Amino acid sequence: MRFNIVSLLLAGVTATSAATTTSAAGSASTCLPSSSDAKVLQFALGVSNFIGGFYNTTVNSTFGNSNNATIQAYQRVLFGLEKDNTLSSAAIEKVGAKAPGFSKPTCDYTYPEVSSTQTWAQWAYRFEDTVTGAFIGLAGYSQSPEVSFLLARLAAEHSAHSALIGSRVNSTYFAANSTSLVAAYGPAQILSSRNQTGSLGEYLGGCLTAPTSPCGAWRIGPLDATPSSSGVASSTGVSTYAAKKN
Ligand SMILES: *[C@@H]1O[C@H](CO)[C@@H](O)[C@H](O)[C@H]1NC(C)=O
Ligand SMILES: *[C@@H]1O[C@H](CO)[C@@H](O)[C@H](O)[C@H]1NC(C)=O
Ligand SMILES: *[C@@H]1O[C@H](CO)[C@@H](O)[C@H](O)[C@H]1NC(C)=O
Ligand SMILES: *[C@@H]1O[C@H](CO)[C@@H](O)[C@H](O)[C@H]1NC(C)=O
Ligand SMILES: *[C@@H]1O[C@H](CO)[C@@H](O)[C@H](O)[C@H]1NC(C)=O
Ligand SMILES: *[C@@H]1O[C@H](CO)[C@@H](O)[C@H](O)[C@H]1NC(C)=O
Repeated sequence: MRFNIVSLLLAGVTATSAATTTSAAGSASTCLPSSSDAKVLQFALGVSNFIGGFYNTTVNSTFGNSNNATIQAYQRVLFGLEKDNTLSSAAIEKVGAKAPGFSKPTCDYTYPEVSSTQTWAQWAYRFEDTVTGAFIGLAGYSQSPEVSFLLARLAAEHSAHSALIGSRVNSTYFAANSTSLVAAYGPAQILSSRNQTGSLGEYLGGCLTAPTSPCGAWRIGPLDATPSSSGVASSTGVSTYAAKKN
């Protein structure tokens, strides 16, 4: 059952590979995940298992024993997110199996104390936002289209989780005066242990290693896309800005 779902989940990847093989058969050696991609995928799996474990260990204990219909409805949505987090990890493992030298990271995660649905939502928002940015950042480290495709999909998945939870926690989540696209975080920042969005070092148990960029030093910036202050945005600004809002 889970296998079928995973095959379905990855159906687009297969189609992409097939198209590449027929139209550009000469570049087939760059189409399979490389050993450098294995490091990217291990990092991605560690991050994915972290957020999956957060839901697994906190959703039932926080939302499980309520007769309140609002909380019960919320819990059903969270079971859906929990399931999607499990699918995310399964997808990474499936692509990882094709990358030479890939192995699953063994992590001893720690999770913050969660004492109320309110604190749960605040931590989930912070973690989903961080994980979204981590997958976007990792896309800058991949070598094969298949890995980029997977990372784009994971980032979109977690960005949706973040928006769902974040729009309840943060009243300015979609602010009219927003000046930046969704945040991206490089692996080094993810590993740092600052107590804020973008860092998970405190929780990962020191089990992950930052991948190295195949293209040398790589700075992951905030990807600002600010329409000009006169209100007449440059064409680049408009298209990038529109890309966030749609
Ligand atoms: C979360 O729980 C599901 C099933 O309940 C399991 O398949 C999955 O591996 C768990 N995820 C993590 C990261 O522990
Ligand atoms: C949480 O509760 C639901 C329903 O009661 C159950 O199906 C699920 O396996 C539980 N999850 C975990 C991680 O124990
Ligand atoms: C149910 O929970 C919601 C969210 O915490 C709360 O606003 C509401 O007052 C609760 N309803 C009852 C009947 O306790
Ligand atoms: C609320 O969301 C906005 C837009 O995403 C972000 O700039 C801001 O930092 C968030 N605030 C908090 C407290 O998370
Ligand atoms: C955007 O507007 C909100 C209030 O509507 C304000 O608190 C915030 O400082 C503004 N942010 C920027 C970057 O101007
Ligand atoms: C980390 O930040 C959270 C929320 O801002 C706060 O509740 C917590 O006490 C902080 N933890 C540490 C170790 O500073």
